[in-house]
Amino acid sequence: MSQTENDQDRSTADIAVTDLTQTDAMAELARLADALAQANTAYHRDDDPAMTDAAYDALKQRNAAIEARFPDLKRDDSPSDQIGAVVADGFGKVQHAVRMLSLGNAFSDDDVVDFDQRVRKYLGLSADQPLRYTAEPKIDGLSLSLRYENGELVQAATRGDGAVGENVTANARTITDIPQQLTDAPDVLEVRGEVYMSHADFAALNERQAEKGAKTFANPRNAAAGSLRQLDAQITAARPLRFFAYAWGEVSEPLSDTQSGAIARLAALGFVTNPLTVTCDTPEAMIAHYQGIEVQRATLGYDIDGVVYKVDDLALQQRLGFRSTTPRWAIAHKFPAELAWTKLTGIDIQVGRTGALSPVARLVPVNVGGVMVSNATLHNEDYIAGRGGDGQPIREGRDIRIGDWVQVYRAGDVIPKIKDVDLARRPADAAPYVFPDTCPQCDSPAIREDGDAVRRCTGGLICPAQAVERLKHFVSRAAFDIEGLGAKQVEQFYADGWIKTPVDIFQLRTRYGQGLQQLKNREGWGAKSADNLFAAIDDKRKIPLHRLIFALGIRHVGESSAALLANHYGSWAAFAAAMAEADIGSGPAWDELVSIDGVGAVMATSLITTMQNPAEANSIAALVAELDVQDAAKVASDSPVSGLTVVFTGTLERMTRAEAKARAESLGAKVAGSVSAKTDILVAGPGAGSKAAKAEALGIRTMDEDGWLALINGA
Ligand code: IVH
Repeated sequence: MSQTENDQDRSTADIAVTDLTQTDAMAELARLADALAQANTAYHRDDDPAMTDAAYDALKQRNAAIEARFPDLKRDDSPSDQIGAVVADGFGKVQHAVRMLSLGNAFSDDDVVDFDQRVRKYLGLSADQPLRYTAEPKIDGLSLSLRYENGELVQAATRGDGAVGENVTANARTITDIPQQLTDAPDVLEVRGEVYMSHADFAALNERQAEKGAKTFANPRNAAAGSLRQLDAQITAARPLRFFAYAWGEVSEPLSDTQSGAIARLAALGFVTNPLTVTCDTPEAMIAHYQGIEVQRATLGYDIDGVVYKVDDLALQQRLGFRSTTPRWAIAHKFPAELAWTKLTGIDIQVGRTGALSPVARLVPVNVGGVMVSNATLHNEDYIAGRGGDGQPIREGRDIRIGDWVQVYRAGDVIPKIKDVDLARRPADAAPYVFPDTCPQCDSPAIREDGDAVRRCTGGLICPAQAVERLKHFVSRAAFDIEGLGAKQVEQFYADGWIKTPVDIFQLRTRYGQGLQQLKNREGWGAKSADNLFAAIDDKRKIPLHRLIFALGIRHVGESSAALLANHYGSWAAFAAAMAEADIGSGPAWDELVSIDGVGAVMATSLITTMQNPAEANSIAALVAELDVQDAAKVASDSPVSGLTVVFTGTLERMTRAEAKARAESLGAKVAGSVSAKTDILVAGPGAGSKAAKAEALGIRTMDEDGWLALINGA
């Protein structure tokens, strides 16, 4: 399901299953079947997941819960009865002699206890009768079935939809963990297990791919799947795949009478089996093994996403049998998707546009919900020391030290965070982290003002880190947005000394245009691209006032504040004169500045301090001399939207939100954040959700972005 508000997907998803009507349930089951089928195809057939494992599991659980409440509504194509995806074109098809199944999931300790109780109930065993399980890591790769006849590997097949898989025999033969021949094996033996890629091999593969300009992989599982499912076995051979054996399909004679015995037999035949496989006699022992494996997870060198428990006695497995797609005798106890423990190997300090020193955790890479994480934010020095913004202890006062084991947390696409630290695993020589009091980039003092959680470099424009970050901000989308001059090019030009401050951008052509040779010789640049760049830069000499003010990167002045200032002062000359003559805290210019709705003393002080700093003032004046700054339209009282209340929702494609708001306000409209009876117009872009529904219910005039632009056009 998409992250954006979507009426279709959202209409009942937030309603408790117990509150769903029959009609809602039917519609939601249809949507879930569709969403899960698409996710399955993306994951299994295209090796390109459309959602995280956690999101997928949540949809499956929701689907199962609705089906449990409305059994009659269960669809013929119910996602509960499906595993994997149809085979891709290009590979031969293989009918599995014994279906390749999936596993049910347990997400909590209680689920594990329930599993044991279900098994006992089915078998008619009381709580005190012995019942043994195996517990082993759940390898995060893709399953493969290897068929041996008379000791010869004759066929290898992926799971496919469980009944029919893809014939990848030639590819499997290139994997060194897979024996080509077996001695003393049953005449017919199908060995099943997981193909995976180690973290080290994954990192090296991605590096090689990036060097070649080829597609890199999001995680080792995708890399393994993409490598195994190559039509050209030569490519598979060049990819370092591994294989753990953990199960079997058709066998002409039993391998053993227990699961653990069968695994030992597979090891004796020459297969690699997982060393963390144990037997457990109670659910408590299973959970303890799970916790032990969770702790080792980051240093295993390969991805696992949980622990699998299986009834050890094969005769009991036989009696327990299967539900539609999962065995009753096994379950996968999954790790929480967005959390993982790993080791903190270092703390780097990054210097931002406004000089803020931000600590970044360097981690032993770990897979958190399908994404490899090797960096996480540590926020600020108090956070590392175990203090919150209010000075009160956080994490019960536990500080974070280099060498510590830390818990990484990732939600959505935001930067991963460090949630906790494990003191029991702290190395004896780990010392408290000392936050630097000088800038690591320019050595200027880094100071922390009263009430500010952040320590800042005082180097200003002499600090290379600040200068580069300011340039990146200057060319960013909501600022000058110069085509062909993004963050990467800015870094390169800065490193080469071509661009140090914004004005240099606009003098590039005069300084280097004649000697184009220099730019032409640069990797990735030719005469044409250099000319295109100069043209793109010239294009932006004409710039709206609000964009210029935002682009200056003055602390506390965001996109919407820049628009407020532009609307208020109208022209660059008026704005610059007001900033030059204002005194901080008093006087008419100050009073006027803070009288603007949305401008407070903190922003006003920041504006005046920056604009009156001689170095900044010179640099800004030189820049403005290169530009043709467009005055802001004065608030119009005769526009078609003057006096109306407008709400924007969904994605705007032709302008940023702040721009839309500023433009509407300059036309005398009031922009509100939510729809109410007072709303006059709703401008709804793609992905508009509950606001559009509410506007419709209230009979409010609704239009798309183009309709809005047509309405205000010419105003
Ligand atoms: S046993 C009948 N053991 O997890 C059950 N599966 O979610 C056969 N997997 O399709 C599977 N590690 O690809 C089993 N130690 C393990 C596993 C494992 C990973 C995968 C396998 C399976 C999927 C189910």
